[in-house]
Amino acid sequence: MSEKIIIEGGHKLNGTVMMSGAKNATVALIPAIVLAEGPVTVFGVPEISDVEALATLLRELNCNVETFENHIIVDPTHLQSVPLVSDAVNKLRASYYFMGALLGRFSYVKMKMPGGCYLGPRPIDLHLKGFEALGAKITCDEDGTYEIYAEELIGTKIYLDFASVGATINIMLAAVKAKGKTEIENAAKEPEIIDVANMLTKMGAKIRGVGTDTITIEGVDHLGGCYHEIIPDRIEAGTFLILAAAAGERIVVQNVIPQHLDSLISKLKEMGVKMEVSGDSVVVYGLESSLKAVDIKTQPYPGFATDLQQPLTTLLTQATGQSIIEETIYPERFKHCAELNKMGADIDIHSGYANINGKTKLKGANVCATDLRCGAALVIAALIAEGETEIGNVYHIDRGYDNIDHKLIMLGARITRIEREDN
Ligand code: EPZ
Repeated sequence: MSEKIIIEGGHKLNGTVMMSGAKNATVALIPAIVLAEGPVTVFGVPEISDVEALATLLRELNCNVETFENHIIVDPTHLQSVPLVSDAVNKLRASYYFMGALLGRFSYVKMKMPGGCYLGPRPIDLHLKGFEALGAKITCDEDGTYEIYAEELIGTKIYLDFASVGATINIMLAAVKAKGKTEIENAAKEPEIIDVANMLTKMGAKIRGVGTDTITIEGVDHLGGCYHEIIPDRIEAGTFLILAAAAGERIVVQNVIPQHLDSLISKLKEMGVKMEVSGDSVVVYGLESSLKAVDIKTQPYPGFATDLQQPLTTLLTQATGQSIIEETIYPERFKHCAELNKMGADIDIHSGYANINGKTKLKGANVCATDLRCGAALVIAALIAEGETEIGNVYHIDRGYDNIDHKLIMLGARITRIEREDN
């Protein structure tokens, strides 16, 4: 049985919405717990399906795991190094963080290459090169099961060919207990990486320079338990700012770190969106905004986030003129455009670029989420379309947005979620 949501468009939204903890920090923080020799409590955990999959993998490693509404308590005291080859690995690409964390803890890990949303080829060569640089030997058998082993992990200088978020975090996890100093050069600077480093530091790790392009790690022998609160989700917040500009009258987006959204906020202002930015919230006045076309080029942080180009595409269909999106991170990340065109958008795609011709009137249709942020783009389109829209494969949206229907219904949206007979 798969679920779908039905949205009746045309209702102006009003009110306040609270952002949840950052998914892309959460999915690294939870595997990182296996590095601790004592209990770890993480607060602000979003209620998303990725967390359930990661909790399953922790239990497979013989950790005691208790999950509550917005926090998780993990006791890794009786942690065992067992192969991670169950279906839970395939539920999300980020299960690969167990590679770095278990390698860092045991100098050995055996696990399947994880799945995750299809966004074009998503190799992990930079992760593996980092592990090898630390002294690990890697084999991969025909069904994609990796075995990674090191007599001893020795700190070294590692240059990343691309400022990869995942590789930066995974190498950091493998290096925190390595012998000596590790330097990660051309490191990614995303806020979620800083959040992971902050929790590792509370455990006793010695890490400097996170958030710059050179991270220095001094290996330590032991890491202990700690308490940690996850930073707010900047991608969920960006999605709601865009949604508010498209479908809101006055919407307050709360539990936000505005500087994490600098690139989006400046683009929305360039489009003519009326906003008030304060310490931990942003107020958006959607009705007063007549929107102008803008050009977007996705970049690693602090550039414009690739995860927000999909939701922004929907808003750009309501802007007057032609907008051009250049997607430099995932050149194939345009599967949402065909779905939006089914609703009346006028978007042309060609090798890494999308040309969006606005302003177009959107009409309700039967569409399908192809990945997490495509789902977000379709929800925004459905909220402003004339008539009813049915969005299939809602599980994509549930992977990264905590109770999105509930949050939207509280703002006045007309949404129903139903089981769909799988034919
Ligand atoms: C993280 O993915 C995020 N996921 C993605 O968010 C986000 O889009 C991406 O960073 C970029 O910001 C999580 O944090 C769980 P990368 P990640 O390694 O770590 C290439 C969402 O919607 N690459 O920075 O996988 C890769 O193919 C998700 O929340 C290699 O070539 O991103 C891609 O083109 C989607 N070799 C580029 O680098 C490698 O070893 C960016 O990848 C690793 C990456």
